[in-house]
Amino acid sequence: MKITTAANLDKKQELLFLGLFEEDKDNYKSLSEELAKELSEAQDRKAFSKKFGETYSTKVEGLPYKKVVLLGLGAKKEMNVEKLRQALGKIAMAAKGTLYTSISTNVVEKVRVLGHFNPEMLGRATAEGLMLANYDFIKYLAKDKQEKNKPLESVSVQWADSSVSFTAGITSGKIIAETTNFIRDLVNEPANVVNSEYLEKVAKRIAGEYHNVKLKVLDKSELQKEGMGALLGVNAGSKSPPKLLLLEYHGSKNGKYTALVGKGITFDSGGYNLKPTRYIEDMKTDMAGAAAVMGTIKIAAELKLKKNLVAAMPLCENMVDANAQRPGDIVKAYNGKTIEIGNTDAEGRLVLCDALAYTEKNYAPEVMIDLATLTGACVVALGYYAAGAVSKDEELLQKLKIAGVSSGDKVWPLPFYDEYQDWMDGTITDLNNNSQKGKGYEAGSITAAVFLSKFVEKAKWAHIDIAGSAYWMVDGAYLVKGATGSGVRLLSYYLLDNQEKE
Ligand code: BES
Ligand code: MN
Ligand code: ZN
Repeated sequence: MKITTAANLDKKQELLFLGLFEEDKDNYKSLSEELAKELSEAQDRKAFSKKFGETYSTKVEGLPYKKVVLLGLGAKKEMNVEKLRQALGKIAMAAKGTLYTSISTNVVEKVRVLGHFNPEMLGRATAEGLMLANYDFIKYLAKDKQEKNKPLESVSVQWADSSVSFTAGITSGKIIAETTNFIRDLVNEPANVVNSEYLEKVAKRIAGEYHNVKLKVLDKSELQKEGMGALLGVNAGSKSPPKLLLLEYHGSKNGKYTALVGKGITFDSGGYNLKPTRYIEDMKTDMAGAAAVMGTIKIAAELKLKKNLVAAMPLCENMVDANAQRPGDIVKAYNGKTIEIGNTDAEGRLVLCDALAYTEKNYAPEVMIDLATLTGACVVALGYYAAGAVSKDEELLQKLKIAGVSSGDKVWPLPFYDEYQDWMDGTITDLNNNSQKGKGYEAGSITAAVFLSKFVEKAKWAHIDIAGSAYWMVDGAYLVKGATGSGVRLLSYYLLDNQEKE
């Protein structure tokens, strides 16, 4: 999608999208008397109000556009950067799939003149809202159906100010959104396409694109040699090989690392604790954490972030066959701890625990953040619109919350109370992968984090559960249902805000 900026409305575009705040009274009289009259009538008939997100579409004789669409922007005091992102999302959603592929809009300009937003943030939100909304996963549809989902080609954004930081924001927003959409493709692809070998190829391609990105791969024999028994146990029933990918980005000379660890279960059947119907169907998405950290490395390289990063992606498939792990089996993790398999469906923590311990030992990261579609309990607690965050480091948690608000890819903290810290202890082993206290499911997202915490020693660590946010069953303002790329914007904004000072 081509996004350009212009001081005035671009008359060469096919569609015009005009914003209206509730406080706006003149209904664009100076642009077109006819439009103003029709709008007043529409408002009287209650066919249009200026509530946020409402639209009214018309054709205005005398204006050069095929159609003019009015978009309600709500009350001025309620506008913020995420709402602007949503407004542009609504515009792209309304325009795509029509006969027309080019639009002009004044919505960003209307937000700019409110005066209290950072132009760069407005630029990022603009590009993200438009480009994320312009995404559909339609490659498996017949050609005529694909035609109906024709994406938008060009958008002219009115911005009547000379500030270059807005265009810089558009540029970084484009990079972030484009890669997010690429990651959404990976997550939407089925598990008979995306397996560990496929993801390795994608990582290899990314490493080949940038001189300061490097890929290391631990194959099955190396995983055995290193003693990653927890990860290996999960993959025992699969015919795809297990892998640990380490995708490094070198953007700073200070030698310090931030580690991003992403759960990469290419399909989660549940194993012998098999998932029932209605819970198993979307489990191709269980590698969304790994995909998101991989995307973040690509964005870091594109944006030339001043940071050293390593994305660790433990890749496995949780399947059943004669070799598969059983409930009651005991495995030994990379750090030497023994784990009883209380439930073969609690496999995410098993692949992550080895990846966390290995990454900390080999990279000594200052900060380690893991991203995982880890628990159904998180979907129950928070739904789609926030990931659950757990950390003992208040400062890191605060930084992630800020990145969540500015990116719209939100996180919400879950309490990591002392009372839970022994809930994952085993009876005949150091740990059990399923809580042995109470009924076993209480505070499931928190107890899963307790398990992971036993594999982190010194790093400032945060765990982010994206089970609900990674894959939506409903459409949003700028994300259609399906994979959302959750975590990509969150981590990108976090890293942009926390670069090394050198
Ligand atoms: N991948 C699932 C969690 C999940 C559920 C992700 C729904 C996305 C949507 C995870 O591996 C899992 O099965 N967790 C179990 C843990 C339990 C057995 C302790 C769960 O949440 O039921
Ligand atoms: Mn599972
Ligand atoms: Zn899983």
